[in-house]
Amino acid sequence: MAVRQVLRMGHPTLLKVAQPVAKFNTATLDRLIEDMFDTMAEQGGVGLAAPQIGVSLRIIIFGFECSERYPDAVPIPMTVLINPAIEFLDAEQQADWEGCLSVPDLRGVVSRYTRIRFRGVDQFGDVIERTVKDFHARVVQHEVDHLDGILYPQKIEDMTRFGFIDELGLGKKAD
Ligand code: NI
Repeated sequence: MAVRQVLRMGHPTLLKVAQPVAKFNTATLDRLIEDMFDTMAEQGGVGLAAPQIGVSLRIIIFGFECSERYPDAVPIPMTVLINPAIEFLDAEQQADWEGCLSVPDLRGVVSRYTRIRFRGVDQFGDVIERTVKDFHARVVQHEVDHLDGILYPQKIEDMTRFGFIDELGLGKKAD
């Protein structure tokens, strides 16, 4: 178990398209996922993608019971999702504030699809399929973007709605 360093925006690994995982149920994969959970917990995040700790593989984790970073959010079960695919269930999108452990202290407004179905496998290779909406859907879209080398600031349409948390008056909790 180890807390790993989270790469910040500007590091080239965050811009790479990550590779699919081919082998499941291995000690290496288990240890990587443990490190991801340790790192996410230490940072108080609600999601983390493997490239954020320098591993360019299509693995994301997400979930929380209650979040200091997002105090109004409905809980999401702790999930390991590998080689994920997302289907947008309709055209509706919602614009809302978003943050990222790789972009500390900042928030920006990003549009995300409201309703999605996602599919992937867990660390044992067992299929996970879930239909979700709102914040849960937002978190999954954000994390899957990391696997394609996309950080949320690249998706901000109105740059006047991007800034430091303290200055935006969104709350006192820092990243
Ligand atoms: Ni992020």
